[in-house]
Amino acid sequence: MLRCIECGRFYRGDEVVYRCECGGLLEVIVDLSRVDDVFDGKDVRLWKYERFLPVRKKVSLEEGGTPLYRLKNIFPSLRVFLKNEGANPTGSFKDRGMTVGVSKALELGMDKVLCASTGNTAASLAAYSARAGMKCYILIPGGKVALGKLSQALIHGAKVIPVKGNFDVALKLVMELSSDLRVYVLNSINPFRLEGQKTLAFEIYDQLGEVPDNVVLPVGNAGNISAIWKGFKELAMAGITKKLPRMVGIQAEGASPLVRMLKEGGEFRPCSNPETVATAIRIGNPVNWSKAVRAIRESKGLLESVSDGEILRAQYRLASKEGIFVEPASAASLAGFIKLKDLHLVDGTTVLVATGHGLKDPNVVLDRFSLPNPVDPDVESMKERILNH
Ligand code: F0G
Repeated sequence: MLRCIECGRFYRGDEVVYRCECGGLLEVIVDLSRVDDVFDGKDVRLWKYERFLPVRKKVSLEEGGTPLYRLKNIFPSLRVFLKNEGANPTGSFKDRGMTVGVSKALELGMDKVLCASTGNTAASLAAYSARAGMKCYILIPGGKVALGKLSQALIHGAKVIPVKGNFDVALKLVMELSSDLRVYVLNSINPFRLEGQKTLAFEIYDQLGEVPDNVVLPVGNAGNISAIWKGFKELAMAGITKKLPRMVGIQAEGASPLVRMLKEGGEFRPCSNPETVATAIRIGNPVNWSKAVRAIRESKGLLESVSDGEILRAQYRLASKEGIFVEPASAASLAGFIKLKDLHLVDGTTVLVATGHGLKDPNVVLDRFSLPNPVDPDVESMKERILNH
């Protein structure tokens, strides 16, 4: 069953519907009387929480069960953890959404799927639809998708079509095309996809043995923050936990319409020319903005923005101090946490969500580092080079 978050109208779960007639976003209502307390810290993986999910497992690449590391070198005296979603099958948190979303597509009898993407949704949908034997169409912003992600989408056999425009333009087209082409849309406007993503909350609780005080994550189209908040709320509604975390969303300065709205007040206004080095979250008109604002308000959370410089410094710090290589959007979590901690706005146990693997976007690293000229292959020259550098 689906319910509109604005007017409360219900829709059947076997209807292909993405928005309510009133324009509001939809969310899945799960029967929490059927769930069980499986949170024993063992065998953590997405489908362990099947009872919380509105579909049966049909298409899977064994997603979830990603590591939760304590950042003991960067924050020796604080309880700061990092949930490394780059360890998912295609290297990002999107796999959580796609195992559920593509399983739902099969249940509905759909054989074609479609999305707009800044890259990771494309890579993930391409892989899961390949596994399900479906046709996959992907619209990407022309020239602004990281190479790792693009190569994934291509090798999995998706039809990749660049659009003359940014992600927001591509997503608008996808929504217009969906009914004409009888394709199933798997952007985060699809409430079933978000059901998969809510398992990130379950895994954090399962691995940590408690609900943290803060969960910090990058915000682009604003689906993930909404999904994770729903997961924590369901844990509480099912009587498994009492505590709820504060949801802390981080946007890139050049693409921060939600931060502006919450700081300045007033109506939501999209940002027309989003720009940031973190191309995954280069989004000016987040489709889930109303769900995200609800998550921030209900959890007494925060929204903050960080500059590209702060993002790149955080990416380097994580890789060089903790051995964890994340893509720029994911480093926004650490950059935002440092900013808020310095302002004394966050304390207690914190989980930073690293949403995608660093190898997704090698160019952003290679642009900053250069290799020296090759050295003559003798020990003396090599010794000199090693000791002088
Ligand atoms: N981090 C990464 C690495 C992402 O790829 C995305 C979104 C986000 C964070 C933001 O998540 O949209 O749920 O707020 N990437 C989408 C894509 C838009 O097409 O891959 P969100």
